[in-house]
Amino acid sequence: MKKKVLFEVYRQGSKDACGYFKEYLLAIDDRISVYDALWTIRNELDTSLALPYFRCRKGVCTSCLMRINGVQRLACRIPVHTTLSEDGIIRVEPPKGRPILKDLVAGWGDHDEV
Ligand code: FES
Repeated sequence: MKKKVLFEVYRQGSKDACGYFKEYLLAIDDRISVYDALWTIRNELDTSLALPYFRCRKGVCTSCLMRINGVQRLACRIPVHTTLSEDGIIRVEPPKGRPILKDLVAGWGDHDEV
């Protein structure tokens, strides 16, 4: 059964731009992963949202490492229903300690490019 979930997703147009949160209301099966929910947002609501592209979806590649409601986690391994705040909101940010290239895409160092 689908449930409406409000996602607050970090957006930043480029390395040097200012970041902000954009809200997306999504009707989804809340047993899907946060990562799949983000791809649904990208495919159905906002094609400008940049996400890490490599997707093993098995917790191996770590490309989907993000802060989800303040906790650093692999988004492909976290079902939406397990991380909803009491308000029914999921806030997604890039991982801490890595440079932001665009939106939720983080690099590893000074030589990263989008
Ligand atoms: S997509 Fe590879 S660890 Fe999540």
